[in-house]
Parts: sequence; C-alpha cells; structure tokens
Amino acid sequence: MSQYVGAIDQGTTSSRFIVFDREGRIIACRQREHAQIYPRPGQVEHDPREIWTNTQAVMREALAEAGIEPRSLLSIGITNQRETTLIWDRRTGEPLHNALVWQDTRNDRLVAEFARDGGRDRFRGITGLPLASYFSGLKLRWLLDHVEGARAKAEAGDVLFGNIDTWLVWNLTGGPDGGLHLTDVTNASRTQLMALDTLAWDPGMLAAFGIPRAMLPEIVSSSQVYGETKVPFAGVPIAGILGDQQAALFGQTCFRPGEAKNTYGTGCFALMNTGETPVPSTCGLVTTVGYKLDGKPAIYALEGSIAITGALVQWLRDNLGMIRDSAEVETLAATVTDNGDVYFVPAFSGLYAPHWNEGARGLIIGLTRYANKGHIARACLEATAFQTREVLEAMEKDSGIPVRELRSDGGMVANRTLMQFQADILDVPVVRPQVTETTALGAAYAAGLATGYWNSLDDLVHNWGVDRRWKPDMDAGERRRITAAWGRAVKRSFDWTV
Ligand code: G3P
Repeated sequence: MSQYVGAIDQGTTSSRFIVFDREGRIIACRQREHAQIYPRPGQVEHDPREIWTNTQAVMREALAEAGIEPRSLLSIGITNQRETTLIWDRRTGEPLHNALVWQDTRNDRLVAEFARDGGRDRFRGITGLPLASYFSGLKLRWLLDHVEGARAKAEAGDVLFGNIDTWLVWNLTGGPDGGLHLTDVTNASRTQLMALDTLAWDPGMLAAFGIPRAMLPEIVSSSQVYGETKVPFAGVPIAGILGDQQAALFGQTCFRPGEAKNTYGTGCFALMNTGETPVPSTCGLVTTVGYKLDGKPAIYALEGSIAITGALVQWLRDNLGMIRDSAEVETLAATVTDNGDVYFVPAFSGLYAPHWNEGARGLIIGLTRYANKGHIARACLEATAFQTREVLEAMEKDSGIPVRELRSDGGMVANRTLMQFQADILDVPVVRPQVTETTALGAAYAAGLATGYWNSLDDLVHNWGVDRRWKPDMDAGERRRITAAWGRAVKRSFDWTV
C-alpha cells in the first residue's frame, strides 16, 4: 500500500486538504470557502463551526479523490490562518462568539490605551511584537470584556482559548470527549502572550492583558506526534502544526539564515530565517518563531506582515464588480502601459509592517480625467509589490543581510505582470518554485519528518525546484520616482480614523 502525508490548510478564505507524496507532489486537493462576516467597518468574523464542518468535508473529499483509505495517510499536518481568535465551551464545544479574524480592528481602543502607557513597542522585548490590533492577545481581551460571563468561565477553566490550529486539533481529537488543547510555538508566538526566549506563556503578559492562564493551550513544537484523529476518521497521527506563513517558509525550505520567502495571499507575509537567535526589529518588522522541530532549538524569523494584497483584487471583484474573477485583474491591467500616476493604498485594516498605523484607511490618489479602469487595476497590483518592497527594505536593515533573490508563493504568483513588476521594483530576481502550494507542503513536511516519511531537512531541500525566475528590468530613475510617489501616498493614508 502506498503511503502519503496529508495537510489541512485552513486559510482566511477557505479550508483545504491536500495529499502529498514523498516527492512533494500533490495527489489530491479539495477546497471549500467559508463566509466572511463584516458586521461593521473594520470588523471581520468567521463562524468557527463552518470552518470545522468544511475541514471535515475536504478531508473526506480529498481521500475520495485520491482513491485512498485513511490508513494510507501516515500522518497529518495542520497549517492555519494565524492570530484569528476564538473561545469555546469546553463541555459543549460551542463557540461563545464568532472568531475575530486577524484583520479585525475592533480592539483598536485597547491598543491605544496600552500604547499610551509605555509606547507601542513596550512588549517587543519579550514577545517580538508591537502593540497592534492584529495579534491574538488583545483580541482575546476584547472577547473577555464583551462576551457576557466569558471571563468567569475562563477563570474556572470552562472556556478555552485557541487560534484556528487549536480549534481544529481539539475537534479532530474528540472535542468535548477528551480533545487535546494545544498550540505550536509558531502560532503561540503570534498571541503576544508567549515569551520568545522561553517559548512559554509569559506571566507578566498574562497579567498585563488580564488573560486567565486556565484557558490557554499547552505550547508544543511544530513537528512531533501530538495524538491521533478521532474525527472525521480515526487513527491518523497528527504530527505537525505551523502557522501558515511559517509553514510556507518551511515548505520553501528556507532552512539557512538569510533565506527569505514572500507569500502572496489575502495579505503578503515576507519571512526571513534568522537562525537560533531572535533578531529584534527596529524598522517595523516583527520577530517571530519560524519553526521548532522536536528536541531541537527553535529557529526564529523576521517577518514583514502586510494585511491587504490579494484581498484588494477580491475587493475590486466583490465590492466594485470591476472584474468577474481575480485572474481578470491582469487582463485589465494589461490594457494600459503604466499606472497613469494612480496609487492605491489598501489600508483597509490600518497598515501593518512597517508602519503599524491602526487609523490608516484605504485611498486612491493621483486621479485625473486621464485615469481609467486599467490604471486602477494596475495600481491595485502595484500596491502589492510596493508594500513588499517596504518590508524587504526593513528586513535588510534589521538583519544586515541583503536579500539576493525572493522565493515567492501563494495564489498571486500566477500573475506574471505582478511578478515582473515585483522584480523591477525590488531590483532582485523573483523566483517561483515548481510546487507553489508551499504552505500546505510545509505542514506536510513537519508531519512527515515526525513520522519518518522524510528523514532529514536535506530530503526536503532535494524536493525544491525552480519553475520560473523573473529578472529586474526597470530603469533605476523610474524605480526611484514611482517608489517615492508610493511613499507619499502611504503617508496620506495615516491616522484617518483618529
Ligand atoms: O497572519 C495572517 C495570515 O496567517 C493569514 O494568511 O494566507 O490565510 O491570508 P492567509
């Protein structure tokens, strides 16, 4: 019987299950989208039950597609949208509120209050993170403050906290009937409640944010056998967990310090491996855990998190009806030769790295009678590349390591116009690997390493190959001119809501 490794990839817009073989090739892949709930401007929720239902469905469907039984899966890895925060009743498994999605800014007052007393960077030394609406700790605090009875139940250990990885593992391993309550170091590093050096919940952070210890999951490594599934099929070891951006770093085999990747999804997340020592950021990045193999030291990363990139294309499609499907943005952008001096700053959830401005809001600037739909589409694509340039510049300054080539993955790498413009604006080559499903692949690798499907990191490096390389081809003066114009546009978007 052939054996495979499976990966649950629970992302911001959909849940997928992918079956991989030893060469890292995809044997089967099923996907289901879930509802994006927008109760008010700046608020984004998911229904955790819908996510769990979809996850079970795609697991069953992918096995059927591959024509295999659950016992053909040697193990399963999990990767997930990070920071998205939920609380649920330990006895019934019922969530007490919809999940607050990472993009949700409803805790912005809390962020401002904490920042007033000691500055936005006051917890960077311990957690690697600035105060921002993005991270789970203050989302959890908001839930405890606003959901009636939640705090008392959490203190009694009757209400549990989790990010999506924790919610899935708990349900997969039986839910109220003995489900495991745990999270891996990479997800925990996004809560702002874990100390980066000890990799344990930090009592000072819990006290500062008012979070009861009894509701927190156990922190575990990213690659070890945690337990076995009970649902939707029994007996498959769960052996890997990585937040989705760290999973992509792992799937891109960025195992050496200085190696970096950028994932072009809902947002963009550029991560650089910095080795066994956390590198503090003074340029607006975050310091995070890259991965931790069982019994080995943690590997840290510098991250440039950008909230809105691919989501801007979806917004053109869903909110403006300017395109019928996401791929059409490239066709529309190709109707013009440049952006016509139009810049689009997609600060829909404020701006994350390197600006961390909660009050920023989106703007389109540079409009004249000359501008048309093509220019807007082009400005929309260019926004992704300009934002990526900002975080990579910060990364080079923080790490002292020049980025010589950028490994790219995620849905938007199918967009050749974007990839070429990205190489042009960075002035370094952009490389697309043969397997672009690196997020799910990273989770499968973590699970497969823990269960002997792969023996070493070298086996994984061996699987990585280049599909296409885009070389920079832009006049330096033009690059300087449009980058400066982008910078001016960004400054105009700051502090709109305050
Ligand atoms: O930090 C948020 C990130 O993990 C979400 O990634 O790919 O689900 O948009 P994605």
